[in-house]
Amino acid sequence: MNRDAIGVFDSGMGGLTAVKVLNQIMPHENIIYFGDTARIPYGTRSRQTIQRYTQEDVAFLRKHPVKMIIAACGTVSSMLGTDSPVNDMPFTGVVYPAAHTACESTKNGRVGIIGTPATVASGSYENAIHSIDPNVDVTAMACPLFVHLVEYGYTDPDDKITRLAAEEYLEPIRDAGVDTLILGCTHYPVIAPVIGEIMGEGVKLISASEAAANYAKRLLEENDLLTDSTEKGRNTYYVSDSVSMFRANAKHFLADAVNGQVFSSRI
Ligand code: DGL
Repeated sequence: MNRDAIGVFDSGMGGLTAVKVLNQIMPHENIIYFGDTARIPYGTRSRQTIQRYTQEDVAFLRKHPVKMIIAACGTVSSMLGTDSPVNDMPFTGVVYPAAHTACESTKNGRVGIIGTPATVASGSYENAIHSIDPNVDVTAMACPLFVHLVEYGYTDPDDKITRLAAEEYLEPIRDAGVDTLILGCTHYPVIAPVIGEIMGEGVKLISASEAAANYAKRLLEENDLLTDSTEKGRNTYYVSDSVSMFRANAKHFLADAVNGQVFSSRI
């Protein structure tokens, strides 16, 4: 049992889709979130740069009382592979939990993956899926515009620009006949309604954020680190850019107003 917070980070606000699920499944846990909004996007940068940013993000969270860390970012998780940036507390990225969930979900053995250019180029989800089931057929597609569209609030299910981009990006995945699609970037659950509509009812969408949040709960249970508090947990947010921009857009990710204090912080 441990009352320290769960540390969560992302390049921006995408990781809030994991925070939303963490709040639902572990309502008594405190969460400390870091969004590197001044340096987003990570997904179009080099592996070396993303790894350096990751180390800095983890070091920032470790200045606070955290008992585990979640890299709630598909791009960061993809650059880490099976390496953990911490060795004295539980850690998870989003790739392996999502790959497991997708392998459990697919019936026809065809899985689609969408993510940032860095994520897709790394082959991370594909490798993770094939380490679980080498027979699964994978079709991956980078969707570079999605992060920007979501981060700046083009999230309405009827938004014409987002729909057009989604139709273009998803065409090869639809043609591949997948029955399961991993939303491999934590920004994407925000536009899941558009993605789901284009893919059709027969395709199950797997949110990497949700899969990672569920896995984080399991890790805390296994390590006997769940809080014993019975009070509602507290969320505290740190961003490297403007607090007001974060406040304005975070509601799209949390599906609610920001439920905690927000600070601007240089790392
Ligand atoms: N949420 C990040 C991810 O899951 C966004 C990546 C970016 O910053 O480009 O990949």
